[in-house]
Amino acid sequence: MGTQPMTDRLNRPFRDLRISVTDRCNFRCHYCMPADIFGPDYPFLKKTEILSFEETNRLVHLFHQTSPIKKIRITGGEPLMRKDVDQLISMLTATTGIEDVAMTTNGTLLPKMADKLKKAGLKRVTVSLDSLDDERFGKINGRGIGTKPVLDGMEAAKEAGLGVKVNMVVQKGVNDQDVLPMAQFFKEKGYTLRFIEYMDVGNSNGWRMDDVVAKRDILEMIHKVHPLEPVESDYPSEVATRYRYKGTSVEIGVISSVTDAFCTTCNRARLSVEGKLYTCLFATKGHDFRELLRSGASDEAIQQKLAAIWHVRDDQYSLKRTSHTNKRKKVEMSHIGG
Ligand code: GTP
Ligand code: 5AD
Ligand code: SF4
Ligand code: SF4
Repeated sequence: MGTQPMTDRLNRPFRDLRISVTDRCNFRCHYCMPADIFGPDYPFLKKTEILSFEETNRLVHLFHQTSPIKKIRITGGEPLMRKDVDQLISMLTATTGIEDVAMTTNGTLLPKMADKLKKAGLKRVTVSLDSLDDERFGKINGRGIGTKPVLDGMEAAKEAGLGVKVNMVVQKGVNDQDVLPMAQFFKEKGYTLRFIEYMDVGNSNGWRMDDVVAKRDILEMIHKVHPLEPVESDYPSEVATRYRYKGTSVEIGVISSVTDAFCTTCNRARLSVEGKLYTCLFATKGHDFRELLRSGASDEAIQQKLAAIWHVRDDQYSLKRTSHTNKRKKVEMSHIGG
């Protein structure tokens, strides 16, 4: 078992693994799975194309042995759409002993699943919510779903003993008027709210720089009404820049992939639902592990492949973003879970 992390060309260790467990979702947020593209005829993956829990577990175990993993994040699509996903979490926590296992979810299925997830060893959830206004939220999620099912999901998670954070993607002219009400609401609730700059992930959301609300502007809006002070990050690779409301212990975070990129410390790899490993959220190509798994490859062969991939990694998409790079054919967010 390697106890030292492997490092890439830019000396960045491999520390976090984000695992997408399904490419499906019950929402159609236009920045992620726009309904006109992800319609009834969209070629979602078939069961035989996606990794089984046993296959995922074997890979993660081998990755962890090659270079110790600190954090696993389960994503999708909507990860709770994957049947019995709690069983995968149980397997992963039992075989690897990794402490920090989290999930990013739209929250609607948490009332049904929160207790099972907690029992399986999940520590925390991050629930996406872009507005407190039912009509605006319904438009953003593309399904006319109001805020209640999501807020109920957060409560269910909290009652089950899971940590809860909230993610809000901020888009100019779409939900920038919701920044302050969201800040106020979650300050009172005591949940950490993270504002995410709208990113040019995938190929289908029609992203334009003009649609981005910059970190600086988000902070200014809030600070004027609810004064903030910076909080030291817990570890160098944290994606969110953290602040605290003065005089409280309640925090917010801003994830500024567009105006203040954090590639220099990026230690994340992403395993897609069909078993491809991506070394960047904006990658155009993944490295296929499913083929290896299904052709009877040895543990060593799988470990060597991972080491070879990480060794030559030099991704820094967000730091090098230009209007030109945005036109590259990138993997869809719903395949690698953001
Ligand atoms: P914590 O462990 O709670 O800090 O979670 P996290 O921020 O790592 O995970 P989450 O799934 O909540 O991600 C929040 C946002 O950050 C999402 O929009 C992700 O797409 C984005 N994000 C996470 N990692 C990266 C990354 O490596 N690069 C870029 N550009 N964005 C990222
Ligand atoms: N830009 C920024 N964040 C996005 N997410 C999905 N698509 C985008 C995008 N284009 C967010 C989701 C979720 C997290 C995993 O990524 O809202 O909170
Ligand atoms: Fe589903 Fe999340 Fe994508 Fe919205 S952002 S379509 S909730 S996976
Ligand atoms: Fe890492 Fe790529 Fe995101 Fe940069 S853009 S932080 S390299 S995933």
